[in-house]
Amino acid sequence: MQFVDLNAQFLRVEQEVRNRIDAVLRHGKYIMGPEIGQLESELSTFCGAGHTLTCASGTDALLLPLLAWGIGPGDAVFVPNFTFFATAEVVSLVGATPVFVDVDPVTFCMDPEKLQAAITAVVTGDVSLHPLPKMSSGQRLIPRAVIPVDLFGIAAPYERIIPIAKSAGLYVLQDAAQSFGCEMNGRKACAMGCDAAATSFFPAKPLGCYGDGGAVFTDDSELADIMKSLRVHGKGAHKYDNVRIGINGRMDTLQAAILLAKLEVFSDELEKRQSVAASYSERLAGCAALTLPSVPAGRVSAWAQYSILCSDRDAAVKALAERDVPTAIYYPTPLPFLTVYEPYGYSPEDFPVASRLSKDIFSVPFHPYLSGDSIAIVADALASVAP
Ligand SMILES: Cc1ncc(COP(=O)(O)O)c(C=O)c1O
Repeated sequence: MQFVDLNAQFLRVEQEVRNRIDAVLRHGKYIMGPEIGQLESELSTFCGAGHTLTCASGTDALLLPLLAWGIGPGDAVFVPNFTFFATAEVVSLVGATPVFVDVDPVTFCMDPEKLQAAITAVVTGDVSLHPLPKMSSGQRLIPRAVIPVDLFGIAAPYERIIPIAKSAGLYVLQDAAQSFGCEMNGRKACAMGCDAAATSFFPAKPLGCYGDGGAVFTDDSELADIMKSLRVHGKGAHKYDNVRIGINGRMDTLQAAILLAKLEVFSDELEKRQSVAASYSERLAGCAALTLPSVPAGRVSAWAQYSILCSDRDAAVKALAERDVPTAIYYPTPLPFLTVYEPYGYSPEDFPVASRLSKDIFSVPFHPYLSGDSIAIVADALASVAP
């Protein structure tokens, strides 16, 4: 059994992918070819964003708005402590400081009450309100932005996060790397009212290409223009007129062609993801020792992962491995405890929720083409160790 079976999907889209790749090989515009504009327009239509800019990765999609907003040294950017490293990495890369906020124990997304406490702690310098990174210079940070993450495919609580952020004058950047296609009260990911949103087209993501790729979304035309410039070495009127420091962050035309083919089946795949998740939840409902994922009312998950909590995770993972079922642990180490952030001096008591999740969580195989038989194998293995 595969954890994510990309080949099953390829068999479905093969002809369309090959046709579109052939078209690129024939016109030869490998950099910013016509497929880029077409994909950007189709992505905007799909999610309802005003502007879409494709880029080289989900990481670049997070980096571009931070660069455009001029976030840098002395600035605080609030990020959840339980996510992939890139969410915080981009903050550190621009020289700003990630301020980690614990996640909600049910949705695994940023806890809005803790975000409020963290903002107040940064503004007042009162660490009794919320743990803050130890700063070698003793300098007071300026709160500038928050990057909520839609972990495993569920939209973060934007209804509560956006008002908190706006009253503190913060930009909100949605990290939708895992959630393209998810919904919140009828609004699609990357058009949920944030100042900007970023997604990833890494192959295993709900919408993935055959390499690295990403996109950044905004309704703000001025921001879109600056990011367009930043994406190509800070270009001005033309390529050799460089007006700011940027990056080489373009998506390859070939990846855009592949995504155009995959976008055709994406809505159907999202429906299949709902069925696979429902089957897992039904089959595993009797296992009292497992905590299954739950999707809050008004939301539709993109089901990037089906992640389960079990206090005896080792036994669960072993029972699955014995039946050749692969598993993954997202994430074994909460971000504040990564080696790179050791100087911030956090301890596990600072972040009780993420500390517990990192010990109990594991993810089982998940993709739109997972068969009922495979789901039954996973469920039987888990029932044998976690009845
Ligand atoms: C939450 C989150 N943010 C950002 C990224 C970075 O995306 P990419 O790998 O496309 O750079 C990922 C990718 O795994 C992710 O899961």
